[in-house]
Amino acid sequence: MRRVAMTVLLSMLTAGPAAAVQNQCAVCHATLGEKHQAILKAFDNDIHRERGLSCDSCHGGNPALDDAAAAMSPDAGFVGAPSKADMPKFCGKCHSNPAYMKKFNPSLPVDQELTYYTSVHGQRLKAGDAAVAACADCHIAHSIRPAKDPTSSVYVKNIPQTCGKCHSNVQLMAPYKIPTDQLAQYTSSVHGKALFEKGDTAAPVCTTCHGNHGAVPPGVENIGQVCGMCHVHNAEFFQSSPMAKPWAKRKFHMCATCHHEHDIQHPTAQLLSPDNGICMKCHSPSSPQIAVASAMQKKLESIEDAYQRAQKDILAAEEKGMDMAEARDLWDASRMAMYQSKTAIHHFSAASVAEVADPGIQNAEKADQAAKDAAADFQNRRIGLGVASLFITFLVVVIYLKIKDFESSQG
Ligand code: HEC
Ligand code: HEC
Ligand code: HEC
Ligand code: HEC
Ligand code: HEC
Ligand code: HEC
Ligand code: HEC
Ligand code: HEC
Ligand code: HEC
Repeated sequence: MRRVAMTVLLSMLTAGPAAAVQNQCAVCHATLGEKHQAILKAFDNDIHRERGLSCDSCHGGNPALDDAAAAMSPDAGFVGAPSKADMPKFCGKCHSNPAYMKKFNPSLPVDQELTYYTSVHGQRLKAGDAAVAACADCHIAHSIRPAKDPTSSVYVKNIPQTCGKCHSNVQLMAPYKIPTDQLAQYTSSVHGKALFEKGDTAAPVCTTCHGNHGAVPPGVENIGQVCGMCHVHNAEFFQSSPMAKPWAKRKFHMCATCHHEHDIQHPTAQLLSPDNGICMKCHSPSSPQIAVASAMQKKLESIEDAYQRAQKDILAAEEKGMDMAEARDLWDASRMAMYQSKTAIHHFSAASVAEVADPGIQNAEKADQAAKDAAADFQNRRIGLGVASLFITFLVVVIYLKIKDFESSQG
């Protein structure tokens, strides 16, 4: 215990101008129970301590006094630990004060308290619900770190867990009757796998879609549009499709209705199947819309087929040592068209998909033909080579016999 007290004392003494006077808050608290030891230990690594702030910067009181009652008297401005309802104001004392914050970091936003109250968390807190997240639920009090620090509770890879500690808690969420599977579904989604397995920080986490302080991320009007921040063409095509207006009227989510919001998996052309595809959720089997789905599925399958055939034949030709550079260019173009066709299905028009896919199919077929020609060429050369070597063998034998003949006529 004494050791902890000493290290804390030392760190307080070296923490900067605000700690130049011996901080009695820390000195006394280091002699209290385990909980206080833990607070002091954690605080050693807190961004606020690093910036020269101390206990009294947040909690108020007089850090120069060693008497508990006097140091922690309301007269000395002591506010103690904030209730959840008071939390935004408690942090906002500094974080909503541009003049104060500018002295430390002019580029740090000062809108957290304001925007927080636009979120579901903030609105419910205002209405008296203390189960929601306030500042210190996402930023853990006494061990607050900037978002770019990998040990921070709000570092990109730690965010799903930070949200999940409440949103996966069945008991806590029971009164609200909302699902508690977001973290589990997200973790096994294309996005979660990209982040956790490939380390791809371009993939969205909870706060990319939901916003961290505000209701939705800056620049997005509502959650219906979040996917379009990254999947720009998909959203653009959907918005110009005949489904945009009727969907908006019915409040269908323009992407999640087909792809889900958290359990997003790699989509295939099978989703367009007239037997069990996604379109069947709303359109009847004999409808013109299912005919569109079917036509788009066939087109996607054709280009994938053509692309794969070209790939197989190009690789086979290259294995024989043939130069396939030109065929590869055509093949690359067909791959590009294949990806563009998958995006083009969001026009929900067979003609729009064909417009992109058809040139791709032609390129794949040309590439495949070139590979086949090269393979035939190789075969011809082999036959040619065979004939030539037969002929040479024949010549050698004839010459040999001639020599033999000559030798025996000499002898
Ligand atoms: C001489 C000892 C002493 C000094 C000096 C002291 N405290 Fe305390 N403080 C205590 C004790 C004892 C408690 C009650 C601990 C408990 O209940 O576990 C306490 C409780 C607290 C609490 C929790 C109150 C709550 O509402 O739950 C905070 C916050 C706090 N102190 C901050 C400070 C700050 C800031 C300073 C300096 C300005 C300070 N203390 C100075 C002894 C001290
Ligand atoms: C950046 C602001 C900030 C600073 C600096 C800070 N605290 Fe706190 N402290 C909080 C908040 C917020 C809470 C409430 C945490 C919660 O409810 O989750 C709190 C709670 C407490 C509590 C009550 C804990 C409990 O579980 O009842 C104590 C005691 C305390 N702080 C002591 C300290 C001491 C001692 C220091 C200096 C070493 C300090 N704090 C520095 C923000 C701060
Ligand atoms: C006494 C003023 C003050 C109070 C109260 C305060 N902070 Fe801070 N906070 C600061 C300062 C100063 C910084 C350092 C800014 C910098 O230099 O980047 C900071 C930094 C932060 C950072 C890191 C910002 C970044 O990414 O660089 C977070 C997160 C943060 N505070 C959250 C909180 C939370 C949550 C609370 C309430 C529990 C709180 N702060 C209370 C003054 C305060
Ligand atoms: C629901 C979780 C959550 C709550 C509640 C929350 N924050 Fe944050 N906060 C975050 C996340 C996530 C980031 C990191 C953003 C990023 O990646 O840059 C962040 C970033 C910050 C930053 C760094 C600057 C910035 O705006 O990016 C500060 C300062 C901050 N929060 C203060 C607060 C304060 C003050 C409150 C309460 C009014 C609060 N936060 C409430 C999740 C939260
Ligand atoms: C301290 C617990 C806690 C934490 C941490 C927390 N939340 Fe919440 N959240 C709640 C509660 C409680 C509600 C209210 C549920 C409701 O109204 O349906 C809520 C509501 C929400 C809602 C609105 C749900 C609806 O009904 O439409 C979203 C979205 C949300 N949280 C996202 C997040 C994200 C993202 C994070 C992490 C950055 C997070 N939450 C962290 C407790 C928490
Ligand atoms: C790719 C974007 C995206 C990501 C990432 C994401 N969400 Fe969502 N989330 C949504 C959408 C869209 C909705 C549906 C909103 C609506 O229809 O009002 C939603 C709904 C919710 C709801 C309301 C209840 C429900 O399940 O419908 C909660 C709570 C929630 N998300 C929490 C989280 C948490 C926690 C994480 C991280 C583990 C997360 N979300 C990750 C987009 C996302
Ligand atoms: C922050 C950017 C971002 C946001 C927002 C976003 N995504 Fe993604 N999405 C990505 C990235 C990056 C990948 C690629 C992951 C990988 O490497 O497999 C991806 C992959 C996908 C895939 C799989 C593509 C494939 O061919 O396998 C689908 C489907 C998808 N996202 C749908 C959505 C939906 C629906 C939303 C909104 C609810 C959304 N995304 C929001 C960045 C984003
Ligand atoms: C009516 C159903 C439906 C809607 C609505 C929908 N998609 Fe798709 N999406 C599909 C189908 C079907 C595929 C499969 C095409 C393939 O890859 O074979 C797909 C493929 C994708 C892909 C992978 C192909 C590519 O473009 O890279 C992404 C990413 C994607 N969708 C994102 C979105 C986003 C973002 C939205 C909202 C703007 C959205 N989708 C709306 C049905 C839908
Ligand atoms: C969630 C329900 C839903 C799903 C799923 C859905 N649609 Fe639709 N679609 C509609 C609604 C509603 C309309 C508006 C016209 C109507 O009421 O039929 C519409 C209209 C259309 C139209 C325009 C019809 C016209 O003549 O204006 C096409 C084409 C279409 N859908 C194709 C598809 C395809 C292809 C899929 C699968 C990839 C699909 N839809 C999935 C609900 C859905």
